[in-house]
Amino acid sequence: MTSSKLIDGKSIAKKVREEISSEIMKIKDSTGIVPGLAVILVGSRKDSQTYVRNKKNACEDVGIASYEVNLSEDCTEEEVINHISVFNDNSAVHGILVQLPLPRHMNEEKILNAVSIEKDVDGFHPLNIGRLAMQGRDPLFVPCTPKGCMELLRRYDIEIKGKRAVVIGRSNIVGMPTALLLQRENATVSIVHSYTKNPEEITRQADIVISAAGVANLVRGSWLKSGAVVIDVGINPVDDANNPRGYRLVGDVCFEEACNVASAITPVPGGVGPMTIAMLLSNTLSSVKRIHS
Ligand code: GUN
Repeated sequence: MTSSKLIDGKSIAKKVREEISSEIMKIKDSTGIVPGLAVILVGSRKDSQTYVRNKKNACEDVGIASYEVNLSEDCTEEEVINHISVFNDNSAVHGILVQLPLPRHMNEEKILNAVSIEKDVDGFHPLNIGRLAMQGRDPLFVPCTPKGCMELLRRYDIEIKGKRAVVIGRSNIVGMPTALLLQRENATVSIVHSYTKNPEEITRQADIVISAAGVANLVRGSWLKSGAVVIDVGINPVDDANNPRGYRLVGDVCFEEACNVASAITPVPGGVGPMTIAMLLSNTLSSVKRIHS
């Protein structure tokens, strides 16, 4: 039985955060500038509250000031946009993040369009996504989870150029930008989604598989080519009576099976998850550097 190399997102994220923290310290010492990140949370989804809390704590750890706005589920689109406008004009704020998903009555496109592209640390503004999709153009920011996946591949010296990559899932937040990033690195990219007729067959051709489907244990060992590199973005709760919380988190990839086939794989938890926040801090730092350059 072969066993894959573990791609340790937790330790890479820690290293990235240490690098960011020391750079921020230097900026503060030499210029007095304190990086600032504004986070807008609408509604009371438990998962979103947890993500926002984790982002705030991470900011504090590396010396980024965070500005949090919590709005009720039934607030208006205009209220959200007003807060965004104030942050757009506030020179202490270098990054603005609107936690998704928004309540159903809100127009996500209109709200994300209101974020200044100069402060769009999530990289969700259509101008940034458009530039990501075009050859010879560069976005000001790249979405955090896709950037985290690429950073893991880079730091583990996994070659992308000329490789076949399959991205499972086509969301605006993860699947679509991840496919664009792999293509920019000269991979040949296929996107597998819920209407794909033969997902196993297509995935089995890939040297690199990045799964962001949000379906527990979707990708079986039999879906993978021997030696494939597997990045699992899924964070899916499954019932677990042995766990005090009554559930545990698993990825999209059936880890035990994949371990026998893949050359390298990210665990869940401890793989891509910690990288998302590290990349948010990285985007905030690069925003500070650009604004004050
Ligand atoms: N919801 C799930 N992932 C993300 C993310 O990366 N950024 C924001 N703003 N919301 C999310």
